[in-house]
Amino acid sequence: MPNYFPPNSNSFVTWLAWGGGIFALLLIVGLPFYARMNNNRVGVPVEQPVDFQHNLHVTQVGLDCRYCHTTVETSNTASVPPTETCMTCHSQLRVDTPQLQAVVASWESGAPIAWNRVHDMPDYVFFNHSAHVNNGVGCSSCHGRVDQMAGMWKNEPMTMGWCLECHRAPEKFLRPASEVFNMAYSPLADPIAQETLGATLVEAYHIDTDKLIQCSTCHR
Ligand code: HEC
Ligand code: HEC
Ligand code: HEC
Ligand code: HEC
Ligand code: HEC
Repeated sequence: MPNYFPPNSNSFVTWLAWGGGIFALLLIVGLPFYARMNNNRVGVPVEQPVDFQHNLHVTQVGLDCRYCHTTVETSNTASVPPTETCMTCHSQLRVDTPQLQAVVASWESGAPIAWNRVHDMPDYVFFNHSAHVNNGVGCSSCHGRVDQMAGMWKNEPMTMGWCLECHRAPEKFLRPASEVFNMAYSPLADPIAQETLGATLVEAYHIDTDKLIQCSTCHR
């Protein structure tokens, strides 16, 4: 059989293997650091250009999440409202605080308010709000008691391990569709009762539990 490879091809293969190995090692060591770089810490309020208070608007004024986060049931993102949404009320209701003057100024100039992101998944993670909200996962399971928050912070670590805690056993967390936007709802205190309810809901929502733990579900 003729030799198709030059004599030094073995060392080339060796170098290729080393290069690949080192690259993989850098990836394994480096990615977690990269992942944490722009991850805000749990429980630490993120500073915003306007001191918008969820507790006031949700609990006192009585607004539903969907009044402002209009796309949460239909798309990947929940979306943060444009100044126009605020002006429905604040064109008349000009509360005498500098914060509201900034909202009015944004409306008059047309420059959007530069909200800082509180949650921001790395680009290599796929996330979809509607898939959760339409399948019995409540906002509060991931974001906590937003109705009681004056500032906004990450309530959960939102690491891969945290996501998988639910993806491995969704029956421990699922709630009836009517309770998804209810901030005060929590899973049933009796674990057996919750898992019985959860198992019924996994069936009702046709949740594919094998798909939930596949890498390609979240990394596409
Ligand atoms: C009156 C409008 C309004 C309503 C109602 C509202 N929000 Fe918000 N929400 C905002 C604005 C504006 C921001 C961006 C400023 C901030 O982060 O505080 C925001 C930010 C958020 C964020 C953080 C976004 C990020 O940057 O990661 C979450 C989570 C959130 N809202 C959840 C909710 C939930 C849950 C409800 C219902 C209980 C709700 N919101 C009701 C206006 C609203
Ligand atoms: C459905 C009506 C409504 C909408 C929509 C609304 N607000 Fe308000 N907002 C209120 C009311 C009511 C108050 C309380 C007024 C008071 O204290 O007398 C208030 C108060 C505020 C305050 C002052 C809080 C304080 O006391 O220091 C800020 C800032 C504010 N809103 C920002 C916003 C922003 C930003 C948006 C849009 C994302 C928004 N609001 C949308 C009704 C609304
Ligand atoms: C399964 C967990 C989970 C549930 C349930 C959930 N969220 Fe989120 N939310 C996230 C994650 C993760 C992000 C960051 C997404 C990203 O960076 O791509 C996020 C981001 C947001 C943002 C920032 C804007 C955006 O779309 O990225 C808002 C606003 C928000 N969520 C509101 C809500 C509201 C309102 C509900 C309930 C109707 C809700 N979320 C339910 C996990 C969740
Ligand atoms: C409290 C439970 C819970 C948590 C926490 C949770 N998920 Fe899910 N997730 C579910 C359920 C239930 C489904 C199944 C929906 C279905 O069957 O379509 C799902 C589906 C998904 C899907 C599939 C969406 C599609 O379009 O097919 C993705 C992607 C996903 N989750 C990503 C994440 C990520 C990333 C996190 C962490 C930031 C997370 N989830 C946290 C319960 C959860
Ligand atoms: C339920 C969604 C989900 C599934 C399923 C999932 N991941 Fe992840 N993965 C994430 C999230 C979210 C992060 C980002 C973590 C962070 O920001 O701290 C991540 C991060 C990573 C990272 C970066 C290092 C780290 O730990 O932060 C690697 C590597 C990774 N995933 C590999 C995998 C592999 C391999 C699988 C299949 C065995 C898998 N993932 C399945 C959600 C998921």
